[in-house]
Amino acid sequence: MVLWLVFLTIVLGGPSAVFTQDLNTCLRCHEQCHGLDLLAASHDDVAMPSNCTTCHRGNDQTTRKELAHHFLIGARYAWYRIAQSEAVVDGKKRIEQLACRRCHIQLKQGNLLAINLDMLMAIRSVEELEQALRVPAFYMPDFSLAEDDLRLLVTQILAGGVDAETMNVAQPVVVHFEDEADLEHLFEKNCGSCHRVLTRHLGGLGQGTIAPNLSGLLTRFYPENFKDQQLWNGEGLTKWIKNPRSIRRLTRMPPLRLNDQQIKQLMESTWSQEFGKEH
Ligand code: HEC
Ligand code: HEC
Ligand code: HEC
Ligand code: HEC
Repeated sequence: MVLWLVFLTIVLGGPSAVFTQDLNTCLRCHEQCHGLDLLAASHDDVAMPSNCTTCHRGNDQTTRKELAHHFLIGARYAWYRIAQSEAVVDGKKRIEQLACRRCHIQLKQGNLLAINLDMLMAIRSVEELEQALRVPAFYMPDFSLAEDDLRLLVTQILAGGVDAETMNVAQPVVVHFEDEADLEHLFEKNCGSCHRVLTRHLGGLGQGTIAPNLSGLLTRFYPENFKDQQLWNGEGLTKWIKNPRSIRRLTRMPPLRLNDQQIKQLMESTWSQEFGKEH
């Protein structure tokens, strides 16, 4: 054992490599972190983690670069750990502006209609996150994100994962893509040619892309665009369905011939499972 330690000391060299627990092979190739200097300069109130993997992930027990960099969070996203950094502050705003929380939980808030974004940091590489935003899943809207928005959103998804393990992580719901459309469902029948929606109990409904995806419509995480920055509610939606132009004069959605009873059924079978289920 003693011989083995002496051997390690000789082979690996350097005073920091004497004890195997303290071995940080990142420092075999990297001298310092420019990011840390920037951080120390701009946020001197932040406690600096000394361990490279705390911010960058990777594996600091190997000297092979591909292994050391496995799952690495590079400079582009490494600000995710610093709550006061510009990337995290702006990323938070983007998540709100784009209303990601009407389908996802992010930073413990939102509807659980699709996977909880706070869980992704533990299981996805940054390349996988970028790809999921560039080429969205079938029932996720295509936001056609600019590079900078992509940077902010991925940073924010990582930030949501920082203390995810300490929370009671809700299970993601399964979104059923392959199922035959239930053409008798009131949403499929009346709205699905133009709209899509995710439901908690039936997965995705509708095939349309010419009109907004209506997931989370009757929750507080949907954009406040009913009128004058108001949220949508049952009463407003009923008026809208009967005569959209009474709400938005120039809207392209045609009035639909549904009576109050049918609209009530439509709302119950499409959105009611979401009430009281938000996080
Ligand atoms: C065998 C040498 C080697 C080891 C070990 C190593 N790196 Fe690197 N690292 C490099 C080289 C070389 C680059 C330059 C870019 C490249 O070749 O990928 C780099 C680039 C980086 C970058 C910038 C990449 C980017 O896209 O922003 C980060 C961050 C980084 N390394 C972190 C780490 C961390 C953290 C560890 C330990 C877990 C580590 N490295 C271990 C050689 C190494
Ligand atoms: C508190 C979080 C944090 C820790 C801990 C940290 N880094 Fe960084 N690192 C960053 C940030 C943020 C950047 C991006 C800086 C920028 O935008 O220029 C970065 C950038 C880098 C880069 C890209 C090139 C450069 O120097 O800017 C390398 C390489 C790197 N870090 C290596 C390391 C190594 C090695 C360690 C361990 C000694 C480490 N980092 C520890 C946050 C951290
Ligand atoms: C209309 C609902 C909806 C909205 C709004 C939405 N998404 Fe998604 N998202 C989905 C669905 C559906 C999936 C596929 C995964 C699933 O079934 O849970 C998905 C998948 C993802 C994934 C990949 C998950 C994985 O398993 O790797 C990421 C990352 C993601 N969304 C981020 C976002 C971000 C960021 C926003 C806001 C800009 C957003 N989403 C807005 C529905 C939505
Ligand atoms: C013929 C296509 C069509 C059908 C069928 C249709 N819609 Fe629409 N809907 C639209 C279009 C186009 C818009 C976008 C209008 C605008 O931007 O003003 C829209 C907008 C909406 C909005 C506003 C969403 C937002 O974020 O701005 C709601 C709510 C809505 N529709 C609900 C429904 C419901 C519920 C049904 C079924 C009962 C339905 N629509 C059927 C075309 C349709």
